[in-house]
Amino acid sequence: MVTSVSTVTVSLLLASNRGPVSYIEDGSGGLVPRRGSGGLVTAMTAALRDNDALWVCAALTDADRRVARARAGDVDHGVHMLDLDPVTFDRAYNGVANATLWFVAHLLFDTASQPMFDARWQRDWKAYQDYCGAFADALTGAAAPGATVLVQDYHLALVPRLLRERRPDLRISHFSHTPWAPPEYFGLLPDDVAREVLTGMLGADALGFHSPRWASAFVRCCAEVLGAAVTHDSVTWEGRLTRVSVHALGVDRAELTERFDQPDVQGRLPALRELVGDCQLLLRIDRTELSKNIVRGLEAYRELLRTRPQWRRRVVHLAFAYPSRHDLPEYREYTAVVQRVAREVNEEFAVDGWVPVHLEVRDDFARSLAAFSLADVLVVNPVLDGMNLVAKEGPVLSERGVSLVLSRQAGAADQLGPYAHLVNPFDVSQTTEAMHQALSTSPDVRAQRSALMASAATALPPAAWLQAQLDALG
Ligand code: F6P
Repeated sequence: MVTSVSTVTVSLLLASNRGPVSYIEDGSGGLVPRRGSGGLVTAMTAALRDNDALWVCAALTDADRRVARARAGDVDHGVHMLDLDPVTFDRAYNGVANATLWFVAHLLFDTASQPMFDARWQRDWKAYQDYCGAFADALTGAAAPGATVLVQDYHLALVPRLLRERRPDLRISHFSHTPWAPPEYFGLLPDDVAREVLTGMLGADALGFHSPRWASAFVRCCAEVLGAAVTHDSVTWEGRLTRVSVHALGVDRAELTERFDQPDVQGRLPALRELVGDCQLLLRIDRTELSKNIVRGLEAYRELLRTRPQWRRRVVHLAFAYPSRHDLPEYREYTAVVQRVAREVNEEFAVDGWVPVHLEVRDDFARSLAAFSLADVLVVNPVLDGMNLVAKEGPVLSERGVSLVLSRQAGAADQLGPYAHLVNPFDVSQTTEAMHQALSTSPDVRAQRSALMASAATALPPAAWLQAQLDALG
């Protein structure tokens, strides 16, 4: 269904950088839609299924821009893709959102040399301001009087305030899908930028986070950087109160199960079963983001095979590491290290008929769902993660019950921690020991804990999570 955005006004709007679909060129001039990846898209797609909402997102690729131009600003199936100038987009998305704000949120800088806020960076920041302005303009034009606007993530931190200045009648919320840095780390940002990010978000009536840890860090930043009046769940700045809430996103059991029953997922099962054979399956599924800690995970597996030889030939490690943000050199280098370490493990331990690691970099959602059902142990060891839905999907789709090796630094540890093997993600030897314990857990205990994790994981499915955000707006 295609309608013109200039003639429609809607009462529920969502804004995020990445939308539900992105397009790729098929080599013969055609365009093929692809499901958007990442936790935000997974959550919002499920949450909005039964709502009549407008989703405003950016055209990410040249193919997306072709689609956006062909639509000439029209809304297709509730999606309005913004055709932004590619240079502005690149500076805002790669230079600021991914290379700066993401790194701050995940405490990822190697501070001996990074970050470097120079004239080039200031230029990127200007682009980020323009990019947020373009979103605010689009939302302003499409929102009905008194409409609700749900702004998502660090890409759009300035949008709530810009929107409020343009449209004081709107009810605005902002949700962060990432962790939030404590004030001493957030203070790495240039002073004026740190203030602009915080005051930008405080333009919202309500702010949401996945974990009390991230909400508390945000509130402390407001107190220290702005001198705002704060409580544990509110910030008052320039006479306006913004509510700060925690909504720990979960997964939808019925929907996941229904998707799992589709022929494409079922069709992946025989090959996976054959690959695993009589071994236990140690599984990880990540986008290859720097925060996911894939290299230390592989190192922990190498240490397992070195120090506990009883697991050789008895475990197969399937590591799905899907491409992400390859415009950034750090990500390309990281992917190369992941591939090198996986290769080294195989060179050291592979014997006839047994390959210890299978690293798959081609994104295949159906295969991921199929693998969840067969896993004996799931490894989720990010250095820091807003939530991590993989940790929640695994127990729900597990056939016989799965043991979870989980980083205590993931938001998901708040719900799943009591039943998982929690690890400090920097401690490789502890992760090795956790893998050993997880592989050694009896089938009964594993099934029991897995069932408990599955109920904790489904406590706040996307639709209820969305409703909780709307309720927080009052
Ligand atoms: O889903 C996790 C997440 O980190 C979100 O916080 C964020 O919006 C998204 O990934 C961004 O990923 P990408 O750069 O691929 O759009």
